This record gives sequence, structure tokens and C-alpha cells, in this order.
Amino acid sequence: MGATIPRPHRCFSMRNPFARALVLTMAMLTIGGFFLRSDLDMQSALLKTAATAREALTLQKPMGHPESAGWGGVEGSSAEQNRISTAEDADVPTTLSNSSHLMTCDYDMERLRHWQETYHLEESFEYTKRYVQVARQDIQRKSVTKLDQNFLVDAVKIVDVNKQYQAEVCPEPLVVPVSKSPFPSTANASDFMFGVSTTYKRLTDLRTNPINEWTYWLTDGKGHSNGGKLVLLLLDASDAELDDTYNKLTNVGIDVDVYRSDPSLIMAVRYLALTPRLYDHPDRPNKKWLVICDDDTFFPSFHALADKLAEYDHEQPMYIGTFSEDVNNIQRHGSQAFGGAGVFLSVPLAKIITEKLESCKTDEKIAEANTGWGPQGDILLRKCIYENSEVKLTLLNDLWQLDLFGDPSGFYESGIKPLSLHHYRGGIWHVAFPWHYTKVAHVCGEDCTFQRFQTADDFIISNGFSVAYYPRGIDFDLGQFEATFHAAPQDRGWNLDFMLGPQRQSLHKTGRKISWDLQEALVNEDGSVSQVYVSRHDDWRWKNPDGTPMNVRDGIVELVWLPEAHD
Ligand SMILES: *[C@@H]1O[C@H](CO)[C@@H](O)[C@H](O)[C@H]1NC(C)=O
Ligand SMILES: *[C@@H]1O[C@H](CO)[C@@H](O)[C@H](O)[C@H]1NC(C)=O
Repeated sequence: MGATIPRPHRCFSMRNPFARALVLTMAMLTIGGFFLRSDLDMQSALLKTAATAREALTLQKPMGHPESAGWGGVEGSSAEQNRISTAEDADVPTTLSNSSHLMTCDYDMERLRHWQETYHLEESFEYTKRYVQVARQDIQRKSVTKLDQNFLVDAVKIVDVNKQYQAEVCPEPLVVPVSKSPFPSTANASDFMFGVSTTYKRLTDLRTNPINEWTYWLTDGKGHSNGGKLVLLLLDASDAELDDTYNKLTNVGIDVDVYRSDPSLIMAVRYLALTPRLYDHPDRPNKKWLVICDDDTFFPSFHALADKLAEYDHEQPMYIGTFSEDVNNIQRHGSQAFGGAGVFLSVPLAKIITEKLESCKTDEKIAEANTGWGPQGDILLRKCIYENSEVKLTLLNDLWQLDLFGDPSGFYESGIKPLSLHHYRGGIWHVAFPWHYTKVAHVCGEDCTFQRFQTADDFIISNGFSVAYYPRGIDFDLGQFEATFHAAPQDRGWNLDFMLGPQRQSLHKTGRKISWDLQEALVNEDGSVSQVYVSRHDDWRWKNPDGTPMNVRDGIVELVWLPEAHD
């Protein structure tokens, strides 16, 4: 097997720089199509800042101010008091923060309309914009950081996309102390080679395309590889599809080899065969860890992951991974690494698997790997290791398989710093946008993603995932996961407890919580990061106990994270 490995399929035909540029442009349009528009919006918004300020001063158009929604604001003071009463003298729409970054609180109707259409909001909706000043300090990451400041400084504003509004003075930014954790752009993944088996169709479908996610953990975000090698197997792909995939990935800086995988093998065997494929790769002598993962496995904190793996002895045969969070799945399939969370094999163990491959994929072994749910690749791999060595699984519980059903908020809002994420592409699993969630790490460091900031007026920013408001106060244990999700198909109420601990009760439909959930984020030209959080009035979760909606309006919360001035 070792000697007959096919050479990776590569496209060397792009000699003509014009053709290359064209392909690059097409690829960018394909990959970034959706966000390109907001990119441009954001850039023009930044360019416009100064001009807008001047226009507002000179033209004095009678545009008026947005209506107030009448909720929120500082507790104890009425919405009336919170309204900007100095509207007529508030003609300076920009403020300088300490960080020398310009803050602008105008109403860019082009962007608001774009969001209204993209997220299917009503034409009139609540809009709150807040700047957040990052303060990097010599402190440890905290799961929850309490702030003295309020999240809302005025009553919430209602905008109508058909109207125009005058710019306003931005409130002082929220100031959030964070640790001096490293930035994603400086991660070094040279010790790792990743094997993923998928299809061309999944790579090109907008709902499952993993290229942006791979860009986050396999490059510096500026078009260069971070040293991590991706070995991609595409089931039964054509030459043109292999070419296209190779070009798209290398154009964004990913160091990849693309192979066609054999459609005559069943999935479990193709999965097992990933290990010899990595072991026989010419780059393997420079690698410490060969990693088997799915096309929806995401590593949000690569520095932390690499630091963690450095604690293990890569010169020993090592099998590192995590269980399913659902104890039923262990009862059903056995005690092994569940592959979607990522399985880390040391090179000496991969050697054993490679040498024993033939005996590990016989019809008998395939039958033994069938638990009634079809032959399982994870089981085939475990049996191959356990039956040919004394090596046992080393549990790394910060990896997450995420075999959870329903609303995943309780997981992402737990203040967690996960080493991997999985199952976020919908279907029977949840939908999440880890590429967008982690953008804030570019401005405030890896620790910042999913870190929680609790304001004096009972808001919690679960950074990158949601902004939640608890109108009856925060009187529950933030150290526990909120049970917004559940196990399936057999939910005994305690399936997840061995991994998550018992969970506190869900606040769905209690009138005690409402959240705005992140839909997109953008790293701006000036290094700041914009996040767009959206809530819909008809969200089934945010109801009072009598079934009435907690908020009759849709809403957008925009947070802009400002980098430190001299960071
Ligand atoms: C501005 O600087 C002052 C004093 O250094 C500090 O107390 C305040 O929090 C800073 N504000 C921001 C927005 O960084
Ligand atoms: C990345 O890690 C490799 C292997 O540990 C090391 O040889 C290399 O110098 C590192 N690269 C950078 C840029 O630090």
C-alpha cells in the first residue's frame, strides 16, 4: 500500500498570469460572494465617516431621529429621559475613543436595508450599535467578566429602512478587560497533518462549503499557510473537480493535496484508509500528529490546541480524542474517539495502523464494526488499534463532537473555550457559523471567542455568538450549561451529564431571556471587527409564559470591537 500511493492531483497549467488572476477573481467571487457586498459596504462606510460628519454639519437636512422603542435604557429612569433630548445640538456624529479609532454612529440605510433583506426582518426594526474597546491585560481568561457599565445607554431605537436619520453621538465604548492571548494569525500548525474525506458537492454547496473555516485554522488569514497540511480525499471526483478544488484552496493560502478516493470502498473503510494515506505522505517525517477529522470539524483556538498536544509524547504511540457527549452513543457504538471532534494519532501509532491495515478491514472486521447503524469508521479504527497494540484512547475533553439536538445556545453561551467544534451545518444537527464567531479573535486574541461579558443592566455578551438580555435578572448559575439542547433519539434527561455536568433549566418561553444571535462578522480595514447580531420577533424561544412574544419587533445589535491603540 505504502509504495503505490498515487501522487496528489495538482494543477500546474496556470502559467499565464492573466488566467491566474481571472481564476483567482472567480474563486473570490464564488467563495466570498455573499460577504463581498458587506465588505464594500463597510469600506465605504469607513471612507464616508469624515464626509458624513461634515455633511451632517453643513447640510442640516431635517432628517430627524429614530423613534424610541421605549424599553431598555438605564433601570429606574424612564424611556423619555433616555431619549437624546439634545438632538438639535448633537451635530457631531463622530467621537474619538482612546484608541484613536474613529467611532461613527450614523444610520447607514444601505447597510441596514441589506441586513433587513438578508435576515428577512420587517421594514421597521430595532437597531442598537455599540463600540467595545478591548483592553488586553496580564490576566487569565475568565468565563464571565462583570462590567460596571450598562449595555444600553439610551432607549432602544427603531429604524425604518424607508427613512433617513441624522447621525448621533456614539456613547462611550464598553471597555472589556481580556487576557493577552495570541492572535489566530500567529498560529503554527507545522506539526500537524489533517486528513479529511468528503465530496466535491459538499465543497461547492454554500451550506456545507468548509473553505472559509479551513482558512481560519490553516492559514494566517492573509493568504499564507500556517504550516498545517491538509490531505483532502474527494469521493469519485473528476479531474476538473480536483483541479478546481486544488486551485480554490491554494488561492486562499491552504497547503493542500487533493486526491480522488475510491468509490468502491464503503465509507468506514475509506475513513480507516485516511491514516495510511497520511502516514505514507512525503511530508510525514516533519509531522508529529496525524489528525483525522470531518469536513465540519473546526478548531477555534489553534494556539491552545497546539499547546495542549505539546503536553503529550508524540514519540509514543498515542490515540487522542473524545467521546460523544451522549452516553447512549457510547452504549450503542462503544468506547472510542468520535471522529468529528478530531482524532489525533502520533506517527508511531499511525505506523502500526498502516502496517496492519489489511487485517483491519476484512469483511469480518467490517461486520464487527456494524452496531446496527451500518459499519462505523470510528469503530473500525478503534478495533484496529486495540487489537494490534496496547494503546488505549487518551481523552481530551476540550474536543467536542457535539452530538446535541435543538438550540445549541446553551453550549456556545457557556463561556467555554473549546478546542474543536463539530456538527454545525444543520440537517439533523444545529446551525452555527464558527468562521464568523472567531473573527473577533483577530482583534482581541484567541481567548476572547465565546468569552462572556456581563453588563450592569443584565445583558451578557457571549462574544461572537450572542447578546442576551435577562429582564428579570441573572439569578442562575452561569457556571452550568443552560439545557437549551437535548439528546436524541433516546433522551433520558441525563445522557449528557457525564460530559457537560447536569445542566441548568432552559429559559426558553419563560419571559426571562431574549437573545440576538450572531449572523455575520467582518474584520475591517482599520483592524476593528464588526459583529451583526439578529433577533426576530417571532422567534419561538423568546415568549412569555402566556405565549405572547417578549418583543414585538425584530432587532439588530451591531458591536464594533476596537483594537488597543498600541498593540
Ligand atoms: C480612556 O483612558 C482612560 C484613562 O486612561 C480610561 O480610564 C478609560 O477607560 C479609557 N477609555 C477607553 C474607551 O478606552
Ligand atoms: C513552527 O514550528 C516548527 C516546528 O515546531 C518550527 O520548526 C518552526 O520554526 C515554527 N515556525 C515559526 C514561524 O515559528
